[in-house]
Amino acid sequence: MQEHLTPQNLLSSSRRVRAISPSATKQMAIIAARVGGCVSLGQGVPSFITPPHIIEAVTHALKNDVGSGQYSLQTGMTALRQCIARRFLEEKKVSVDPESEICVTVGGMEALLATVMTVVDEGNQVILPSPTYASYTEQVVLAGGTPVYVPLTDKWELGLKAITEAITPRTKALMLCNPGNPTGTVFSDEQVLAICELAVAHGFVVIIDEAYDYMVYGGGMPVNPLSVERFRDNVISISSLSKKYALTGWRVGWVIAAARWMEQIMKVHDAATICAPTPSQIAALAAMEGDQQCVRDMCIELTKRRALCCKRLDRLSDYFSYVPPRGAFYVMSKYRFTDDNSKEVAIRLLEEAKVITIPGGAFGLGGEGHLRLSFGGEEKVIDEAFDRIERWLR
Ligand SMILES: Cc1ncc(COP(=O)(O)O)c(C=O)c1O
Repeated sequence: MQEHLTPQNLLSSSRRVRAISPSATKQMAIIAARVGGCVSLGQGVPSFITPPHIIEAVTHALKNDVGSGQYSLQTGMTALRQCIARRFLEEKKVSVDPESEICVTVGGMEALLATVMTVVDEGNQVILPSPTYASYTEQVVLAGGTPVYVPLTDKWELGLKAITEAITPRTKALMLCNPGNPTGTVFSDEQVLAICELAVAHGFVVIIDEAYDYMVYGGGMPVNPLSVERFRDNVISISSLSKKYALTGWRVGWVIAAARWMEQIMKVHDAATICAPTPSQIAALAAMEGDQQCVRDMCIELTKRRALCCKRLDRLSDYFSYVPPRGAFYVMSKYRFTDDNSKEVAIRLLEEAKVITIPGGAFGLGGEGHLRLSFGGEEKVIDEAFDRIERWLR
């Protein structure tokens, strides 16, 4: 509906922006800064530092190559796109044209937003198997779409029947993070491919977010449905290097899509950022072409942290239940000690025990009654957080 312009609403922010909320992660961080002395099981930032060989490559380029401080091509540096295409073929059996099907973005987040803005129109519905990554909701609403939450099962698996029933003529997309944030689920290849079959049959797009593809406990890599030729027009794939190479602050990721989608996505990307930061693209290239031991080491460390987090939760089984995560570094813990809503519980835990967690209600339907715990922090931080939670509960 057209909003009539009065002197008051001339100065108000747009309806689109008023319709969305700051992320719960950000809100908890703001409260934590006020409280002071908190330990964090909150934000999904692994504690690792950017590997030295990546820093060296960027420093060298900045000193010796004038182009490293300038804009790159809008789609990203050619060498980086070629490297991404090689890795996708080797690791995921996905063949991609680096010229027309890859765009390097400012983190996975920009890749997601540019994709959602390209795919979703006012009035479209976007299915979000949930609990889901909270920012999907805000992005869908920003684009004028309506999130349609379809709860995961009690083991955090996809309910194909429920998803099928949620499809309507207004369904434009489905967004899936695999491995999942916030649940740590690794969805089965069969289920992911079955969803893509539905997408082809009903004419919607599957936006698949692989920010944690490297972190599957016990090994393996989830299927990327672009490996199946008949899904090429219906699947858009989002990647991030933030967590894999400890590059969260560098802001580099990418989107892979059929050229017909990419031509449109590029318009949003250009309008928003022109290109991803060139030094960060150099970092990305060094990361992907360099020794992968740093990734293996981080995975070993995260495996230990996962075990510690589960052990500490097991000790609190009168207070929490959980599904052991199979990927990423999050666990959705269901609390048994109160019926209060998750925001109240998370704030009490923060103010009284000084432990940051993220209220499960922020992740959409099915998340309420839970707290998301990230075990990306060092073991001593995880231990300290659980010591505080235990003292608070008992
Ligand atoms: C599921 C998921 N997708 C995307 C992102 C954004 O990552 P980036 O830092 O690459 O923007 C995150 C960050 O936590 C995430 O958890």
